[in-house]
Amino acid sequence: MSRSAHPAGPRHADVLPEGHYSAPAADLNALDEKVWSRTVTRDADGALTVGGIAVARLAEEFGTPAYFLDESDFRARCRAWADAFGPDADVFYAGKAFLSRAVVRWLKEEGLNLDVCSGGELTTALDAGMPAERIAFHGNNKTVAEIERAVEAGVGRIVLDSFQEIVRVAHIAQRHGVRQRVQIRVTVGVEAHTHEFIATAHEDQKFGIALADGQAAEAVRRALSLDGLELIGVHSHIGSQIFDMAGFEVSARRVVQLLAEIRDEHGVELPEIDLGGGLGIAYTSDDDPREPHEIAKALSDIVTRECEAAKLRTPRISVEPGRAIVGPTAFTLYEVGTIKPLEGLRTYVSVDGGMSDNIRTALYDAEYSVALVSRTSDAEPMLVRVVGKHCESGDIVVKDAFLPADLAPGDLIAVPATGAYCRSMASNYNHALRPPVVAVRDGEARVIVRRETEEDLLRLDVG
Ligand code: LLP
Repeated sequence: MSRSAHPAGPRHADVLPEGHYSAPAADLNALDEKVWSRTVTRDADGALTVGGIAVARLAEEFGTPAYFLDESDFRARCRAWADAFGPDADVFYAGKAFLSRAVVRWLKEEGLNLDVCSGGELTTALDAGMPAERIAFHGNNKTVAEIERAVEAGVGRIVLDSFQEIVRVAHIAQRHGVRQRVQIRVTVGVEAHTHEFIATAHEDQKFGIALADGQAAEAVRRALSLDGLELIGVHSHIGSQIFDMAGFEVSARRVVQLLAEIRDEHGVELPEIDLGGGLGIAYTSDDDPREPHEIAKALSDIVTRECEAAKLRTPRISVEPGRAIVGPTAFTLYEVGTIKPLEGLRTYVSVDGGMSDNIRTALYDAEYSVALVSRTSDAEPMLVRVVGKHCESGDIVVKDAFLPADLAPGDLIAVPATGAYCRSMASNYNHALRPPVVAVRDGEARVIVRRETEEDLLRLDVG
């Protein structure tokens, strides 16, 4: 697979080999619970409802395109992760997947911690009242100003990503008269994607400090020698959209080996390890994600076994799921604008959003599913490509899917599993107005991130 490709495959695979796409589902009206959030169902009229509210009402009140986030599902997933890992481990929600002040409050209420990776995410977290000690601060090039702010706020941990940063954080902490709790992010030589992992992946990427050539051991040596730092552990994040636990197994083994080396050299047993995020979700019915309790058990078994073998005390484990919590909890609602059947190829269905609200298909060749949601239909399935309204032929939302052949302009269609990395990666390309995020719960819907307006665009353009 090329370096520019995401787990889902090569980037410019426009011409699909015969049989690439799955056959249409037996019933196009059925909603596969794997890909839809938990309160989604169809009402007696056949319209999709979420949190008890029908999409037609949502579209009327909030417009399209819009993301609808199932709050009770989000909260339930937070609880499932927290319960699965238990009181002896920590779950940090990765805010890069999607962050807003409402989300921060939900996380706080459900007992999760938060991983932020920029000053903006840190501001959002603090403003919404997340206690600083429950925040982990990540990033491969945190600015001095960001580090200052994180140290001043008293974040629970800063994950150090380079030799320069070890010194920077130590100096800043000393200047503030504190010992900053830190972890060191190591690259363990494992690259995991979806169903595959490569255990000998070389270290040709920007994150972390390589275990190879004693680099990580040297970083530990330096961190332990600096008064401004309290080294609490080692961090490893191996990839995205992972289903296969074998990559985590190799990663955990290598991290534990490092802890054993640290004990042998320095006489200290670091108390924590963080195994990162990257757990996969179902974007289509072909994906089979694992439940949090299976993941928790697999990770804790691996770490316990490796620690027993190395005669180490088992460290406290933390994980950083982003996609696995928020991904399945939202769908994007679009209105169909135009429909173009291309004889012998497929039918192009244009919607009122596109690559500005979901860049993942264009960027990673990601797979999504789609359904007609304003009504049911008994019409035959037709092969469609759902595209946006941008001036770019790569503006594809769903590459290949089946929708009923009687689809018409004005119908509402929805793309499930867009909670992660869609609004957070949204852009203003073609001066598109980024869609709102509407939280739906128990028959009530409220905007948690409002739709951008043309005034917002003009306000930034100072003329
Ligand atoms: N922890 C660290 C250190 C990370 O770098 C990431 C993701 C996570 C946790 C959360 O990973 P998750 O559980 O959400 O997969 N934009 C890409 C994903 C980039 C992920 C970057 N780091 C996408 O849309 O697939």
